Amino acid sequence: MEEQAKGLLKLVNEKKIDRNTKFLAVASGKGGVGKTNFAVNFSYILANDFGKKVLLIDADIGMANVHILVNVNTKKTLKDILSGEKIEDIIFSTRGIDILPGFSGIDAINEVEDSAVFRFVQNLNDVSENYDYIIIDTAAGIDNKVISFIRASSKTYVITTPEPTAIMDAYALIKSMKKLYDYSDFKIVVNMVKNEEEGIETYERLRSSVSKFLDIDLQLGGVLSLTKNIQKTVKRKQIISEVYPSDKFVLQLKKIASEELGEPPPPPIKESFWEKVVNFLKKD
Ligand SMILES: Nc1ncnc2c1ncn2[C@@H]1O[C@H](COP(=O)(O)OP(=O)(O)OP(=O)(O)O)[C@@H](O)[C@H]1O
Ligand SMILES: [Mg+2]
Repeated sequence: MEEQAKGLLKLVNEKKIDRNTKFLAVASGKGGVGKTNFAVNFSYILANDFGKKVLLIDADIGMANVHILVNVNTKKTLKDILSGEKIEDIIFSTRGIDILPGFSGIDAINEVEDSAVFRFVQNLNDVSENYDYIIIDTAAGIDNKVISFIRASSKTYVITTPEPTAIMDAYALIKSMKKLYDYSDFKIVVNMVKNEEEGIETYERLRSSVSKFLDIDLQLGGVLSLTKNIQKTVKRKQIISEVYPSDKFVLQLKKIASEELGEPPPPPIKESFWEKVVNFLKKD
């Protein structure tokens, strides 16, 4: 299996040199820290604010929920691709992003062989030339499937929160990837912060352990504020970047995207309809 994986990843990496498509994984170690919200909104911003062609893959095998966040019902999923169907037949488009939906259920996880995931990663090269970015939302934890998605990515955004447990799990993920595969292309995003200082402190704490024990110079992707608008939009099955384009979280995410691209941030968008309504109500 390890030989098969190595051969496959070599192939993926060789092909990467020929194209400009960037594979970015979104991972965390700990669950519930905001990976999927980051992946969906980051994809939305890259596509709509920066005009990039984006494929978002829901690679959270067994607990997929990107399709729920974007409010699209799908019959076919990544599972069908893993059982041999063509990727082009499964991808759907919404709000300027192409999405490859995932699937849920314990049976589904047990049915999926690690080798099928490796094959899928290999076949991604067939569609990658259509995209500037392929964003891969991974599962919590660090099993072989998560590892293969990270290894196929030129960079991994590691999402943490200021909670010590989330920082510990982010560290464990980075440590495993470094020790097992000498992979160290990480950018840290500290989510759900009360203020900028809390985000920087959290990053510094993680950075100093990673530098001391793993000899990696850990980069900061950015910090993202805790915002009630996320919960509101998730409940309404809307995307915060679309509905509240000037929420602090969205502006911070636009900054992360602009740094990813090396392009200046987009000009501020005027208040959306929903923001106007909310701001109007606040005045009372
Ligand atoms: N910046 C934020 N402010 C407020 N709530 C947030 C923020 N980011 C995420 N959340 C909330 O945290 C919860 C978890 O978010 P999300 O599903 O994106 O995490 P996840 O890391 O993908 O979880 P899982 O490990 O289960 O896949 C959701 O209820 C979401 O609305
Ligand atoms: Mg998720």
